Amino acid sequence: MNVHTYEKIWLVAAMVLIVAFIATITYGSVGLGIAMVGDQQPTIEPTELGDDERFGEPRVEQVGENEYEAYVVAQTFSYQPDPIEVPEDSQVTFYVTARDVIHSFSIAGTNVNTMAIPGEIAEMTVEFDEAGEYGIVCNEYCGPDHHNMEGKLHVVSADEFDLTDLSADGPDEVAVGDSVDVDVVVENRQLEDLETTVTLEIGDETVSEEVTVPGGDAVETTLSVDSSALGEGDHDWTVTVDDHDSSGSVTVLEELDDDADGGEDDE
Ligand code: CUA
Repeated sequence: MNVHTYEKIWLVAAMVLIVAFIATITYGSVGLGIAMVGDQQPTIEPTELGDDERFGEPRVEQVGENEYEAYVVAQTFSYQPDPIEVPEDSQVTFYVTARDVIHSFSIAGTNVNTMAIPGEIAEMTVEFDEAGEYGIVCNEYCGPDHHNMEGKLHVVSADEFDLTDLSADGPDEVAVGDSVDVDVVVENRQLEDLETTVTLEIGDETVSEEVTVPGGDAVETTLSVDSSALGEGDHDWTVTVDDHDSSGSVTVLEELDDDADGGEDDE
């Protein structure tokens, strides 16, 4: 059978086009990492996010040498945490859900983009090679302030990055002679143990304590200063752990107005 040369060319061209179409569709559906929200994760009750192990406290935590997980909650009209801070040369898996209505989690200038749907958890793994700052925007109309809904993603150098959190709480007032007890919580969201020093400065007094916080855990401790060393009046205090600090103030009173030691006397 004799097939005309032009006919052969058209046959081949048609085959090539068909193969190219199939390749394009295949690449678009599997090659770009596009997935349906909720494909990889179980559903979640949006009204109970506060009690959820992952979303109760939106955060970034270390799960491998250069691997991190970020738990993000989108809500009208902000993201938690904000900013999200991750180190450079890292691989970060984002888990994103919404508290109220449908939002999106879109890192401007990248192809990171997902819907954030109440009840569903979107999962995306992203590699960050270089330090930089990115904006996070909401692409789904979610209410009157939709256009102002934004967050920040900071990719910082390894030196700058840290996963320590500090909180401290002290009494508002104590009677002179009583001790000023400041409760301190140091949280360590990296894998390695954190060996550090907790320091309380108040007036001219300084007390410190060495602590070891296991990876992925927190320790509570109490630092105390004798209020008679401070004297009556208002005293500001600061607790420091590495680059973190937390402060407050306490009033040392001549005598507290309670009936602990015979309040009857006053009457
Ligand atoms: Cu949230 Cu638009």
